[in-house]
Amino acid sequence: MSKVVVANDHGAIELTLSIVAHLEERGFEVNHLGVTSPDSVDYPDMATKACGEYLAGGYDFGIVCCGTGIGISISANKVDGIRCALPQNIFAATMAKEHNNANFIAFGGRIEYSENVLDMVDAFIDSSFQGGRHQKRVDKIMAIEGGTC
Ligand code: RB5
Repeated sequence: MSKVVVANDHGAIELTLSIVAHLEERGFEVNHLGVTSPDSVDYPDMATKACGEYLAGGYDFGIVCCGTGIGISISANKVDGIRCALPQNIFAATMAKEHNNANFIAFGGRIEYSENVLDMVDAFIDSSFQGGRHQKRVDKIMAIEGGTC
């Protein structure tokens, strides 16, 4: 079964739970690392939890959410091996996979999106990395981790 790791801070509980339910409806096994309580937590902690779990193996991709999606995506992108996209709409969610081969996507629970977040999640899942010229660019992204730029 395809597996997804999910984590969020207190700023995106409702949105995250709706994403988890949607993924489960689609047949994914979801490992939701929290949080479900409105008590304040720090988004870098939730990002590193999710990324560490993803890197341990067995996951197709990860989803992280905070109030804006910004702090948790910045945090995730600091972890070697993670390419976390913060799509604004369905087009960007599609490109996140087709062009960037993102292995994480982030959303904001306090953001008013112009399109449904669940449709954005579906667009990401249902797209495929195009490779070709995009592979070279993704390789260049990953080379930044090695400090070679
Ligand atoms: C938490 O209040 C908030 O700062 C966080 O959820 C997120 O929006 C940060 O980028």
